[in-house]
Amino acid sequence: MSTAADKSSPLPVFANAEILVVGGAGFVGSNLVRALLTANPARVRVVDNLLSAERKNLPDDPRVEFIEASITDDSVLAGLNDDLDYVFHLATYHGNQSSIADPLADHANNTLTTLKLFDRIARFVRLKKVVYASAGCTVAEKTADLAKPTTEDAPVGLYHDSPYQVSKLIGEFYGNYYFGRYKMPFVKARFQNVYGPGEILGAGRWRGTPETVWRNVTPTFVWRSLAHEALPLENAGQATRDFIFVEDIVEGLMRCAAFGDAGGVYNLASGAETTIAELAELINRLTGNPTPPDIKPARDWDRSIRRVGATDKAREKLGFIARTKIEDGLARTIAWTRASAGMIEAAMAKHADKVQAPRVSTKK
Ligand SMILES: NC(=O)c1ccc[n+]([C@@H]2O[C@H](COP(=O)([O-])OP(=O)(O)OC[C@H]3O[C@@H](n4cnc5c(N)ncnc54)[C@H](O)[C@@H]3O)[C@@H](O)[C@H]2O)c1
Repeated sequence: MSTAADKSSPLPVFANAEILVVGGAGFVGSNLVRALLTANPARVRVVDNLLSAERKNLPDDPRVEFIEASITDDSVLAGLNDDLDYVFHLATYHGNQSSIADPLADHANNTLTTLKLFDRIARFVRLKKVVYASAGCTVAEKTADLAKPTTEDAPVGLYHDSPYQVSKLIGEFYGNYYFGRYKMPFVKARFQNVYGPGEILGAGRWRGTPETVWRNVTPTFVWRSLAHEALPLENAGQATRDFIFVEDIVEGLMRCAAFGDAGGVYNLASGAETTIAELAELINRLTGNPTPPDIKPARDWDRSIRRVGATDKAREKLGFIARTKIEDGLARTIAWTRASAGMIEAAMAKHADKVQAPRVSTKK
């Protein structure tokens, strides 16, 4: 059992380690791979079918071995041997709306992925930790009233708003099963809303909805704001979310691997509630967008209006604090978006027959 003093940095445990990152070409995954490389691992294997990712998001580094395939592919699974120290499972069918449009595709890439991966690795004896990217939205109370910070042991309902949420929960169930049955050293990291550099609008293949291009609220707002468009505020932007910068999530994932208890669950959250209207205002201020927001009706599928994660357990047990202030994280996201505008435009252009996106100026 590690003590608080041991937890200044998670990096030492990854030195010379054999690491597998499933979904490692994605937004969070590619940031995680970059951070892991700073810890001098022996090898970082990435399995990703580029369903919602771009190959160029992965760093070119001789220690990164990229396998372009689904983790449900039996030959890929057969190629995994008991030589892995750490596994991070981040593959998902991105995201809520796409899963509503195609629940079977969600099942294939968000549930079956998890079951087949865990069934393959559960009996490996060298494994030190298997970290699973779970979603705080599945556990958060579906409320419009004052949000109580959602703790790790909050009751989980049986009624959810999307197949995506159901799949993320099933992943927890399966991991808990393989932990109980085979002692697979399973750790659940429950994310809040992650934003930051590396989230490429339009990344990957068409997944049935405009969200294939627009992904999440922060990158959408940043792009539209840079194009001086009106930011759409559903329900007048009164919903709240707990936004966490991607570097903080990556630090939290590494802390889950280094210090998390097998069988444990940890929120990776900032603990701060931000309204969508405040987010829009901040982004417009940072980009200098003079166009006022556009008030829209509420989304018909989303009953989770106010949401924030409790941070105590991760701070005490993992030494984890989300350090990045939202203004700073947004400023860095905007700078990255400007610098990467060509790459982002190329990814969005693949879907131009279905979604028209504005061009942005890359000038400051
Ligand atoms: N970004 C957030 O705000 C957030 C919030 C809560 C939970 N999460 C979870 O974090 C993880 C990473 O999310 P992200 O935002 O980086 O999404 P992402 O879409 O960028 O990454 C998911 C990756 O999984 C890959 N993938 C999909 N199907 C696959 C398959 N069958 N085999 C192998 N790879 C496959 C995709 O190509 C992509 O690279 C996901 O599990 C997601 O559910 C993210």
